[in-house]
This record gives sequence, C-alpha cells and structure tokens, in this order.
Amino acid sequence: MSRGRTEHPLFARFYASVSPAMDRSGGAELREKLLSGLTGEVIEIGAGNGLNFAHYPAAVTRVLAVEPEPRLREIGQRNARLAPVPVEVVDGVAERLPAEDASFDAAVASLVLCSVADLPGVLRELNRVIRPGGELRFLEHVRAQTPALTRVQRLLDATVWPALFGGCHVARDTAVAIADAGFAIQHLERFSFPETRIQFPTSPTILGTASRGQS
Ligand SMILES: C[S@@+](CC[C@H](N)C(=O)[O-])C[C@H]1O[C@@H](n2cnc3c(N)ncnc32)[C@H](O)[C@@H]1O
Repeated sequence: MSRGRTEHPLFARFYASVSPAMDRSGGAELREKLLSGLTGEVIEIGAGNGLNFAHYPAAVTRVLAVEPEPRLREIGQRNARLAPVPVEVVDGVAERLPAEDASFDAAVASLVLCSVADLPGVLRELNRVIRPGGELRFLEHVRAQTPALTRVQRLLDATVWPALFGGCHVARDTAVAIADAGFAIQHLERFSFPETRIQFPTSPTILGTASRGQS
C-alpha cells in the first residue's frame, strides 16, 4: 500500500507555529477533555507536534504516537520527552499502523481524520488495533450543520484547501464515518471552535468517545 504524500513542509511549519496559540485559546482544555479518564496502553494517530502528550492522565501506561510528517514528528519527539507518561513517537501512517491486532486499550484521533487519505481504511485499522471493548477518542473539525457553510466547505475541499493545508478536508462527516465503521458512539458533543461570531470552515467540531464492540 502506498503511504500517500506525507511530507508537507510548509503546512508543518504553519501548524507548528499556530497550534500552540490555538491551545492557549481553548484548545488545551479540549485536549484535556479528550483524554480524560483514559487508562492503559493508547495509540495516537497523526500526533503531529505532540500537543496532546502533556494532557495524558497518569493511568495511561504507554502511548504509541504515529506521525508521518518528518518536521512535526521531530517536534513531537521533543514533546514526548516532557510528557507525564511514557510516549514513543514513530514514523507511520494511520492506514497501516505498526501494531498487533487488539493490542491497545484505546486510540486517539485529534484533528487528523480530516487529513487521512483513506478514512474508512483508517477506521478499519483502528478497529483492528483496539482491543474488544476498547475505545476511540476523537476531536475533529467536521462538516457544518448548516447548508450555507457546508456548500463553502465542499467548494474548498474540491479546490484549494487540501493542497494548502496538508491534505485536510473540511466537509467530512466524521461522526457518521465512525459509526459506519462499526464503532458505537457513546458520547458526542458538537460545538464551534474557536467561538467566533462568523464561523471558519474548520469551526464545526466534534468531541467524543466510541466503543470498539466485543467481536
Ligand atoms: C492538523 S495536524 C494535527 C496534529 C495533532 N493530532 C493535533 O491534535 O494537534 C494533522 C496531522 O495528521 C497527520 N497525518 C496526515 N495524514 C496522515 C495519515 N495518513 N496517517 C497519520 N497521520 C496523518 C499530519 O502529518 C499532521 O501531523
């Protein structure tokens, strides 16, 4: 299987410089909520520059963080050394995870399911590596709930957006894709982030938990 295009030097520079400011403006609280209550061994896909790492609870015994983009991975490796729990950052793509079947208690996807090349394939792969009864935690910007913004998002996805922002798509209906992949959604919040009067194409956001099922 091809890895697809995973080096995005301009996007990597951009994301590494803006994401800490996003975290100072409310993003860090969302990450805290995303990871709250996790225990045991966790796999994080598309970990980027590692901004989740500081928020893993002490009951997490190991995080395997998979990140294909070299520049972001290097920053992530530095942040892993400062994390309160053991974090190993490795090269790889979410479509083909370097992990045994059913080897993790949970998986984490934040701001990455918008960018993967094969969303159903990634969700199948997560289903494979999470143990029966384990969970998927997600924090993702998604398709809007209003027709006007959805039209803008679709137009952007069909034109400039993916090329400008490292393969990101703004019109993905990620909650539906998670459910279609066989996960049972246990908890789902929808909100706009950041909280601005006029929404950005990336503002509609979901945060939630889905369980992997026992079979
Ligand atoms: C917007 S950044 C988010 C980084 C991080 N998850 C966070 O919450 O800040 C998107 C990340 O997804 C990664 N990515 C893109 N395609 C991927 C794939 N197929 N498999 C794994 N990661 C991927 C990118 O390299 C980038 O680090």
